[in-house]
Formats: sequence, structure tokens, C-alpha cells
Amino acid sequence: MTARPDQYAVMGNPIGHSKSPRIHSLFAAQTHQFMEYRAIQVEPGGLAAAIAAFRADGGCGLNITVPFKQDAWVYADILSARAERAGAVNTLLFRDSGEAFGDNTDGVGLLRDLGVNHSIELTGKAILLLGAGGAARGILQPLLAAAPATLVIANRTPDKAAELALMFGDLGSVFGCGFNELAGRRFEVIIHATAAGLNDRLPPLPDDVLTPGGCCYDLMYGDRPTAFVRWGREHGAAEVLDGLGMLVEQAAEAFYLWRGVRPETPPVIARLRGQ
Ligand code: ATR
Repeated sequence: MTARPDQYAVMGNPIGHSKSPRIHSLFAAQTHQFMEYRAIQVEPGGLAAAIAAFRADGGCGLNITVPFKQDAWVYADILSARAERAGAVNTLLFRDSGEAFGDNTDGVGLLRDLGVNHSIELTGKAILLLGAGGAARGILQPLLAAAPATLVIANRTPDKAAELALMFGDLGSVFGCGFNELAGRRFEVIIHATAAGLNDRLPPLPDDVLTPGGCCYDLMYGDRPTAFVRWGREHGAAEVLDGLGMLVEQAAEAFYLWRGVRPETPPVIARLRGQ
């Protein structure tokens, strides 16, 4: 009888266009891991049942994506410190003891893409984070751990930005505001984490909010340049990045948690970009 490969998957909705199965199969081939990784679409409210079925079938670990990261946070028996803070889980590991360990590798993925892949220094910089939803919350702890001079969260609903700033205020200099309060201010790094990009739109930004030669990073990615990537190119950014690198880096961190082996990410990023 042939042994069955270890089973992993990503759960989300929609999930049809997820790049995670391709990323993890490239990692598995590169590191010679005997495993399979697939995408599973889950209906709203159905995460716990879907996970139970996956575990009953011998599943070893999961990635969790939109809109289930908060549900996965509730589901996990034990949380990493970074997942606890993020209020969201994107990686589950099912331990032999029967416990589900929940982690969040989004923030470390972003930091690794910025720092290691693109040599972008955050320490001492003025950073602007656009958006105060789940995606923004997931990256705040690692951003503040990089010790920026200041981090301003700007959001359509200013109260949500203020609330998030208060929640993370013990970790560094962080303030919340509305987009209209950005007038006259400049930032060296701007990170876009609103859902406006889903409709190829942008929050209203002053034309001079980016320091000339600064960096723009969009957590989103697409086959075409995103609205924020286009904005960065038109507004004097020296470096404009989309979220594909972060996607691969968060996947690598999850893979490491599951398999104990760290894959090389640059060749995988290059493959996904069709280079
Ligand atoms: P996610 O997990 O993608 O962050 P979310 O938690 O629903 O999703 O948060 C969506 C974020 O995008 C919020 O910051 C939201 O602003 P509000 O808090 O004011 O709702 C922001 N957002 C969504 N659509 C937007 C738009 N058209 N313009 C600006 N911001 C938008």
C-alpha cells in the first residue's frame, strides 16, 4: 500500500483564484516534502464543520483566508502571541495532542518582504497605514516592533483608526485619524490596507502625502497594477510594491510552522510573477 501524503489546505470564500496551492506545491517540491495542499471553499458560518471534516480525513494544517480569519481565531485552542494581538488566525496546526494551534503569519510576511526582499528600512521612519480593518490590525504589531518614528492609521471611519491606535499604543508611537487630517503631512512609507482596492478604488489622499523617494506598499495584488500601485508610481515613489511578495512570505512562515523547513521564497515569487 502506498502512503498518503500529509494533507494541507487553504479555506476561504471565494477561494477559486487562490495562489496558495501553487505556492505550497512549489515549496514542497523545493524542500522534498511529502505533502498535498488544496483549496477548500467554505460557506459562511461553516468554518468549524469544514475544519472538523478536514481533520477527520487526517488533515495536518490549514491556511485560513477571507472572510474566516476571525472565526479561526475563535476556533484555535492555543494562540501564538502575534495571533492573539492580531485578533485573527491565518494558519492552523493540528497537534498530535489534539489541540489546534493558531498563528498569524501575515505581519511577519509583510516585514520579510519589505526588509529582506526589498531592503526597505522601517526603523525611524514615518509610516502611514491606510485602513483600520482586519488586514490593518493583522500587521500592526510587527510594524511597531520595527520601531518607526511614528505610525499614523488613517481610515474612512476615523473612530475605528483611533480605537486601533489605542489598542496598540503600548507598542509604540501610533495615532489614528481620518483621511482629511492627512493634509500637510508627509510619510516615507505608505501601506494600503483598505478594502477599496477590491473595486480598483483608493481612499482620498493628498497629492503630497508621500515623501519624494518614499515607498508605497499595497497589501493587495492583481494581474494588473492595483489602484494604489498606480497612485504610487504617479506620486514620486522610489519603490512601489504589491502584496504578492507578502503572500509568498506569509505562506513560507506557515510552511515552516508545519514542516520545520524554511523554503527559499525569491524563486517562488519570480515564478508567480511569470519571470
Ligand atoms: P479587511 O479584513 O480587508 O481589512 P475589513 O475588516 O472589513 O476588511 O476592513 C475594511 C477596511 O477597508 C476598513 O478600514 C474600511 O473602512 P471603514 O472602517 O470606514 O469601513 C476600508 N474601506 C472599505 N471600503 C472603502 C472605501 N471605498 N474607501 C476607503 N476605505 C474603505
